[in-house]
Amino acid sequence: MTKPLIVFNWKMNPQTEAEAVELFSHVWTRVKTAKYAAVAVAPPFPFLSSIEKRWGIRDLEVRGEAPVHLAAQDAFWEREGAYTGEISPAMETGLGVTYVILGHSERRRFLGETDAMVNAKLRAALEYGLRPILCIGEEMREGNSVPELVGTQLKNAVHDIPPLLLEASLIVAYEPVWAISSGGGGLSADTPSDMHKTAIYIRKVLAELYGEGCAERVRVLYGGSVTAENASSFFTETERTVNGVLVGRASLNIEEAGKIIGAVELAAALALGVS
Ligand code: PGA
Repeated sequence: MTKPLIVFNWKMNPQTEAEAVELFSHVWTRVKTAKYAAVAVAPPFPFLSSIEKRWGIRDLEVRGEAPVHLAAQDAFWEREGAYTGEISPAMETGLGVTYVILGHSERRRFLGETDAMVNAKLRAALEYGLRPILCIGEEMREGNSVPELVGTQLKNAVHDIPPLLLEASLIVAYEPVWAISSGGGGLSADTPSDMHKTAIYIRKVLAELYGEGCAERVRVLYGGSVTAENASSFFTETERTVNGVLVGRASLNIEEAGKIIGAVELAAALALGVS
């Protein structure tokens, strides 16, 4: 069984480098004793470099020994050039970044990011060896069935990307916008059973496009109001269709972030039959 992946998405927080280093050091200390879960942190761009240098994450990644992985919150689709304000995937790999969040609903909503842009970014990230965490999810939940939009966003994002490039690295994060703490819906996560259905649907779409093998290898994460209280439910109640969580707000609270790691660790250990 692959270890569940916990991704802490700090978004545009905290405000200073000192606070970012402090927050990261707590995650680092907590994760050092974690055996059953993998953890990645996505700090704002300006803090990536100082975190990388302080902990030597790039070298640790080369040796396969990084306890905490670095994630970026976005990446542009070109390697270099006249693209004011953008950051290329090559720059990120140079900073020891392993994962990159792409197509987050906040970027779609506030910056007009389209499926075509997400597709170009996804391709570039894969070409530069980053592991993309592709965010998809509907704005509003209507009825009980999995919204078709989830399949459409997924198909558009992977459009024309060769399976070989995709299947070893792609991570799909289902984040229903109504469940995200910033999404206006308050703090109510999706239910584990609905997430279970959605994860099956995501794999069905991937199987239709790329075959069963690919659909099985791609990791599916849940995101949207994950807390210390509900984190483990996505693993224990979903028959292992969910391979991790993407956590925003709760990851900024040192105590809660630690508890989330503990809860996911416990659920993963139980699934392995470790008592
Ligand atoms: P949330 O955010 O945990 O604050 O709901 C998740 C996300 O937007 O990635």
